[in-house]
Amino acid sequence: MDKIFIEGIAHGGMGIGKINGKITFVHNALPNEIVYAEIIEDKKDFSIAKAINFEKTSKHRVEPKCEYYEKCGGCDFQHIAYDYQLKLKADILRSIFKRISKIDINDIKVVESKDIFHYRRRVKFQCAGKRWGLFQKKSKNPVVIEHCKIADKAINEFISGDDCIKKEIVLSDDNVVNKKESVLNLSDVVDNLYLIYEYGSFVQVNRDINIKMVKTVVDSIRQKNVNRVFDFFGGIGNFSIPLAAYGINVVSFDSNKGAVKSFNRNAKRLKLANIAKSIRKNLTKPFDIDIKPPDCVILDPPRAGAKKVVEYIDRNKPEYVLYVSCEPSTLARDLITLKDSYIIEKVTLFDMFPQTHHFETLVELKFDQNKNGSLY
Ligand SMILES: C[S@@+](CC[C@H](N)C(=O)[O-])C[C@H]1O[C@@H](n2cnc3c(N)ncnc32)[C@H](O)[C@@H]1O
Repeated sequence: MDKIFIEGIAHGGMGIGKINGKITFVHNALPNEIVYAEIIEDKKDFSIAKAINFEKTSKHRVEPKCEYYEKCGGCDFQHIAYDYQLKLKADILRSIFKRISKIDINDIKVVESKDIFHYRRRVKFQCAGKRWGLFQKKSKNPVVIEHCKIADKAINEFISGDDCIKKEIVLSDDNVVNKKESVLNLSDVVDNLYLIYEYGSFVQVNRDINIKMVKTVVDSIRQKNVNRVFDFFGGIGNFSIPLAAYGINVVSFDSNKGAVKSFNRNAKRLKLANIAKSIRKNLTKPFDIDIKPPDCVILDPPRAGAKKVVEYIDRNKPEYVLYVSCEPSTLARDLITLKDSYIIEKVTLFDMFPQTHHFETLVELKFDQNKNGSLY
């Protein structure tokens, strides 16, 4: 075992230190801790190790609440006090932007989650025979669980009664679990606004943070002089339909058939079909759009990022871009292209996933004709 001082934190939540000068990523180790670690993978340029004993522990370390925490792959930040989870996430975001896109971000607005446990309204379960489970850490084998500390209480009740079903269990905003059609309540953004969506369509996991995120995007666009928006990876209309409810013309693009169908049904039901529509399109292949480019683009891609959408933006230069991302490394990669013609106006970190290293980032960009490569 080697003694190692933990200097910082890496994306993915591992502590970073050095053993004999070689960068070492250490599982279960926090900044400023001194740990005895066992190397579990030795690569050419770095090693991966596991903290076994602690000579000095961080004052931010707490006892994990979940009895499955050591084994289950669902959470990896439960041993960290919540305030410090937020600080670490902002540090991780800052360092990824610096390393990948060579951008220094001083101000990151951090939006915390009202609930830090039992916030997930959808969870993908694995089965061990008839018993409910989740993937183990770094493995495709399930660990049997009887309850989950981050799943909504109604989902926990659902899994306590039945044999396991190997699929995603979704809680609708009317508190019914696993309906064919669920409800997404956006009344906190626009009075009495709710969307109905088909099972299998994407919905953001954390109700409170989703509302805060949609409100931020919608308020920001309403303050600009924007008439037309393209919403890439628009899903069931989480951002688009509230914008349309405020009279803004929106076209959404998404590859999921059910999401596109739900979007257009909602637009019709809400009498917004004249200003809001969704078009089915695969956005990872090269594409063009035969509708006049908009003055504002929202994009909210899956983890792989949005290379082709960024190429579209680069060709058409809409005045505003609001990039929502659940994967900071692909966001940072995509910003390398955008930084030649856009300035970053604001960066917000939304803590969609407490107790894990994951988070959502919103980067608000504005086209700048005089841009010559620097982002500020
Ligand atoms: C992170 S979700 C965001 C959805 C929506 N903006 C929201 O807030 O609910 C990503 C969306 O991208 C869609 N998607 C995934 N791969 C895609 C692709 N290759 N082309 C177009 N859309 C895709 C999914 O169907 C999903 O709706």
